Amino acid sequence: MKRIFGLFFCTTLAACAGSSGYQPALDASAKVVFDQACASCHGSSKKLEAGTGFQIAAEHQSAAFIVAKIAKGGMTMPAFSNISEAHRTALADYLLAHQSHH
Ligand code: HEC
Repeated sequence: MKRIFGLFFCTTLAACAGSSGYQPALDASAKVVFDQACASCHGSSKKLEAGTGFQIAAEHQSAAFIVAKIAKGGMTMPAFSNISEAHRTALADYLLAHQSHH
């Protein structure tokens, strides 16, 4: 007798995305933090400039949104609770400065 399995859903966001234990060195620059923590999913900072790796949606282009995103994560993006507020803000500035606008 055949068994039909239903679609498998992630029932909690935490189980999907989880959180990252990554913690940058205190004096790490935003570029270093990006390369270490974000580039694996969002592409290198060079690609970021070319816009192939990582686009921040126009309505999300504020430092406050990015700072919150890093802290909270998303559907598939882990939360980075060990990245300090100062580093999150620096990352937001870095990302906004490297966004291609088109
Ligand atoms: C495991 C892969 C992964 C890592 C690591 C990761 N992200 Fe993400 N990120 C995603 C995915 C997938 C999305 C879009 C879906 C979602 O929100 O989960 C996203 C979305 C975002 C967004 C929102 C873009 C938009 O327009 O809505 C920002 C900002 C962001 N990431 C910043 C970062 C930063 C900064 C880091 C490093 C601290 C980082 N991400 C690390 C996978 C990742």
